[in-house]
Amino acid sequence: GKDGYRHYMEKELHEHPVVIGQTLQRLVDPATRRVVMPDLPFDLAAIPRVVLTACGSAFYAGMIGRYWIEQYARLPVDIDVASEMRYRNPPLAKDGLGLLISQSGETADTLAALRGMRAAGQHIVSVLNVEQSSMARESDAVLGTVAGPEISVASTKAFTAQLSVLACLTIALGRARGLITAQQEEGMVTALLDLPSKATEVFERHDEIRRMATIVADARDVLYLGRGAMFPVALEGALKLKEITYIHAEAYAAGEMKHGPISLIDSTVPVVATVPSGPLFEKTLSNLQEAKARGGRLLVFTDMAGAPRLREIAECVVAIPTVDEFVAPILQTIPVQILAYEVALLKGTDVDQPRNLAKSVTVE
Ligand code: F6R
Repeated sequence: GKDGYRHYMEKELHEHPVVIGQTLQRLVDPATRRVVMPDLPFDLAAIPRVVLTACGSAFYAGMIGRYWIEQYARLPVDIDVASEMRYRNPPLAKDGLGLLISQSGETADTLAALRGMRAAGQHIVSVLNVEQSSMARESDAVLGTVAGPEISVASTKAFTAQLSVLACLTIALGRARGLITAQQEEGMVTALLDLPSKATEVFERHDEIRRMATIVADARDVLYLGRGAMFPVALEGALKLKEITYIHAEAYAAGEMKHGPISLIDSTVPVVATVPSGPLFEKTLSNLQEAKARGGRLLVFTDMAGAPRLREIAECVVAIPTVDEFVAPILQTIPVQILAYEVALLKGTDVDQPRNLAKSVTVE
């Protein structure tokens, strides 16, 4: 049941802290602060290249995985949505890693892409929530997300669980390639293990998120922005808003705004940006200043460290705990998803069963 929550989505949003913790429990040793991968039938150190695919939210989790794997493990990652990947027939590296991400393990396009990668000689690793699924049966290894059943059609907790797995895989790859020292690994694992308690603190920002929701609920179009690993967080926020509120939303890499979408901005198109402190903070801030100069209303997600500067320019600021740059996308996803839920409540839409959507897309 819904355990007293109004919708499954609300219940599942509140499960983020537990789900992140459970998922990490399988992949890290809290005593040594090391990642412990299950036995894999190939050598992680010998992987020359990664090819990654998924659909929808799982694809956005994969995009964050790409930023991590490239930055911390220095492995090239080719990524595309599965409906494109399955027909692209890209040249794949010999003994490369085919990485699939799916909550259900049954998505038709992702399964077809898996089969194509297998036929092309890739080692197949799937990040799956349903571990008894078609994709599980056809993979060399399954990395499980321990999110439990996800009933709401719009995915929420599966996303942070997928990111938790991808973060551990990144560390394992970086270590295998001699690029992450034991000391760095301890720091990264510590940051991951701190997430459940930090995620719980996000819910203390509920009133600010609800205030933001009142502005978004009145809009016909919304622009989401983010840079680096926050760009997929923006994509996830825009997708969730579209799915459950039927408000048109688009997400752009913040630096790409001036190449087109800036022409849309006026006081009727709110700009929702995810801008935690870190190396890309100043760059994103200047993009927001450009939006504000065109009359844009700025609604910003950040962390405690970034909040003072953003309060000078933004109409609404939601500041969540400041965490290590590596894990920030996991934490920043949570308020962005809550925003969509709060807007849906104001709109009175059918949150758990949005029109035209199915939980599992098993046909092409
Ligand atoms: C978004 C959503 C969909 C799924 C996509 C992939 O809220 O639910 O975009 O993420 O259909 O589904 P799985 O992960 O089952 O392959």
